[in-house]
Amino acid sequence: MKLLIDKSRDLQGKITIHGCKNSILPIMAASLLTKKEVVLLDIPHISDVEVMIKIMTALGSKIKREGRVLIINNENINPGKIASADMSKIRGSSLILGPLLARVKFAKMVFPGGCKIGKRPIDLHLDGVRKLGAKVDIEGELITVKGNLKPCTLRLDFPSVGATENLMMAAVFTAGYTKIENAAREPEIYDLGKFLNQTGARVFGHGTDTIIIEGVKTVYGGVYTPMPDRIEAGTYMIGVAGCGGDVLFENVNPRHLNPLTFKLRQMGINVTPYYNAVRIKSKGSFSGSNIICMPHPGFPTDLQAPMCSLFAIAGGESLVTDKVFSSRFVHTKELNKMGANIKLSGNTARIKGVEELTGGEVEAADLRGGGALMLAGMFASGHTVISGVKYINRGYGDYVEKLRGVGVKIKAAY
Ligand code: EPZ
Repeated sequence: MKLLIDKSRDLQGKITIHGCKNSILPIMAASLLTKKEVVLLDIPHISDVEVMIKIMTALGSKIKREGRVLIINNENINPGKIASADMSKIRGSSLILGPLLARVKFAKMVFPGGCKIGKRPIDLHLDGVRKLGAKVDIEGELITVKGNLKPCTLRLDFPSVGATENLMMAAVFTAGYTKIENAAREPEIYDLGKFLNQTGARVFGHGTDTIIIEGVKTVYGGVYTPMPDRIEAGTYMIGVAGCGGDVLFENVNPRHLNPLTFKLRQMGINVTPYYNAVRIKSKGSFSGSNIICMPHPGFPTDLQAPMCSLFAIAGGESLVTDKVFSSRFVHTKELNKMGANIKLSGNTARIKGVEELTGGEVEAADLRGGGALMLAGMFASGHTVISGVKYINRGYGDYVEKLRGVGVKIKAAY
């Protein structure tokens, strides 16, 4: 499948945002903590969720999808049965470590996959579970973790999102108080803590840099709606900014998008937040700016690539620095093929805005880079053909329908 996109201007209407990929994956993993049924609502049709379903099904989970509803039953699980091929496809597979260790004191996994955006080790995850008392054996790609956990104070060298999530879940049944210092503060962490507490866990400070987990004997099931996807929303908001138009984004927590809102306003784009929506109005002309991607509440690295597309047609020069991932600029090569003027130096991209990009044949190499190329195709004159669409399908649900709904000239070609 390829994407065919033509220049799109003056987008009008509304886009409804659905559940957040990077909140759903840890919450699906957290459901392994309980034998009771867990129902998750507003789950988008994205391939990372389908892969996570296969990974958990291999472990013995019974998972039914009914539209945007996931019904999960983890009554009987076998932690030794791993779907290694699937686990090496997504980063989210690493998140089964914590809940399995907590529930059955044993977990087996292979090194996770995920977008090729730099080194993606899991040393912080493994160091953390070792500190909690687990024994970690690594043989080639296979990792086995086992042991009884004891409460302690952990400190992360880097506020890793995944390591924070794994260690939160690992400590849920550990009697006493486990503390995680220098924890990640992303909204998805807060959402995981909220889900865990709804099932009966006792997690405090989630969303801040210090999280305390008080061990409980058991947790239960329930119905939960994960937070809306701030990166899906942000990607399309940047698209409206670049094309021009007036679009309302429904089911968005505007506070999750403060770094982007601040930046777009600085560039001259009109952003109006509502209680659970955001409206973008743009005349399609704007100045450049600078972003430094940092752990939350810094500018999100997942919007770095889409912002490169916007800066490519902004007035003046923009600097983009990514302090989270060591090499997350593969998309700039494709943008330059479309006439952008982007020069890389280490983890910084220097972008001189051009009058207009020119459509062409480009290839997505990762999820958010694919999002950036979709936006560039919307901004560029002439036709753009995007291959590597499987990457886009990982994290943007029903994107052709959503974008066509506001006037984007986009279609899938088989
Ligand atoms: C999560 O990845 C997200 N993925 C990423 O979204 C997101 O970009 C990232 O957090 C940062 O916000 C999911 O939630 C499934 P990290 P994660 O651990 O947990 C280094 C997307 O496009 N690190 O915070 O892997 C790591 O190399 C994806 O939706 C270690 O060195 O991110 C990176 O440089 C892409 N050792 C930095 O920390 C470790 O043990 C941030 O990684 C773990 C991480």
